[in-house]
Amino acid sequence: MKKKIYVTQPFLPPLNEYIKYLEEIWDCGILTHNGPLVQKLEKELIKRLQVNNLIATSNATMALQLAIKALNLKGEIITTPFTYIATIAAINWEKCTPIFVDIDEETFNIDSTKIEEKITKKTSAILGVHTFSNPCNIEAIEKIAKDNKLKVIYDSAHGMFVNYKNKSLLEYGDISIVSFHATKLFNTVEGGACITESDILAEKIKSYRFFGFNEKKDIVTHGTNAKMTEVHAAMGLATLKYMDEVRKSRREKYELYKKLLSSNENVKFQKINEESHNYSYMPVLFKSENILKQVLKILNDNNIFPRRYFYPSLNKVKVISTYEDNLEKAEDIATRILCLPLYNKLKTEDIEIICYLINQIAYRDS
Ligand SMILES: Cc1ncc(COP(=O)(O)O)c(C=O)c1O
Repeated sequence: MKKKIYVTQPFLPPLNEYIKYLEEIWDCGILTHNGPLVQKLEKELIKRLQVNNLIATSNATMALQLAIKALNLKGEIITTPFTYIATIAAINWEKCTPIFVDIDEETFNIDSTKIEEKITKKTSAILGVHTFSNPCNIEAIEKIAKDNKLKVIYDSAHGMFVNYKNKSLLEYGDISIVSFHATKLFNTVEGGACITESDILAEKIKSYRFFGFNEKKDIVTHGTNAKMTEVHAAMGLATLKYMDEVRKSRREKYELYKKLLSSNENVKFQKINEESHNYSYMPVLFKSENILKQVLKILNDNNIFPRRYFYPSLNKVKVISTYEDNLEKAEDIATRILCLPLYNKLKTEDIEIICYLINQIAYRDS
């Protein structure tokens, strides 16, 4: 293949529609500091997602840090090692310790049956990740948290526009965070948000995001700078109306991949709930790392660049964790998983070529 195919390609709205928002910025001269477009984006997202509070941030990593701070978490936070480094970086940055629990081999989410054995006197929260937008076992996590008086944060970086039991997935936990990074389903180039039902937590997060100021510009707390800019909000506003279309097209492509790889015995898929999913990733689990490496090679040789999300299992990365336990499932799955290209403009024939190449390798190895 001559053109390069990467794991993803950001959705870009028609340029003239983005420019209209830029003209508004040029007219009023406000670039940042909770300007009119950030406020408009927050309002539109609150309405669309039917959530109580949504506070836009500069990115999801900062949103996680603000969430940990707003809940005043200390000590140990129970989480998954099968996630992006940002989840653990935020915990460490807020001077808490990540305590890893193994994952469920079918959903790739934290295994809720193994959480309780990791709770100690120092545990302050459970931080679940809805991996590739697949909801965690929310009922079990909520029960454990209630029984043990723990807070719950969901890293729902991948979970935009997913409904779970008739409400937005982002409405669960004390606070959920989401990413609007360029690689995500809905993007503001860089960006993210904290979502919470609690007005008190929302006010805290707003102050933390803005150096510790309240709305009257009194300094009321310690803060940082986690504001979204007007230029980023403009991108979100221009993009929002295309999201149903984008999700639908991604779902079709996801299903085509599944169909074309369905008879390949060396390939497995994440167990998902088709309605509670946004099809932002196309994770494929190979029978062995050896097959994965051969697939990577043949795809790369053909200018196709999937990604090893999330490799390695983060409990194995010594600079961020001194955690000693073996986490059998996460360590194993991390070596065998590959996210295939999936984006709005990806063509049917590209998916056919990718699957053809994968089937060549996998069959040869088996
Ligand atoms: C699970 C998870 N959490 C957090 C983040 C961080 O998001 P951001 O890049 O918006 O800071 C990512 C980014 O990909 C992610 O995959």
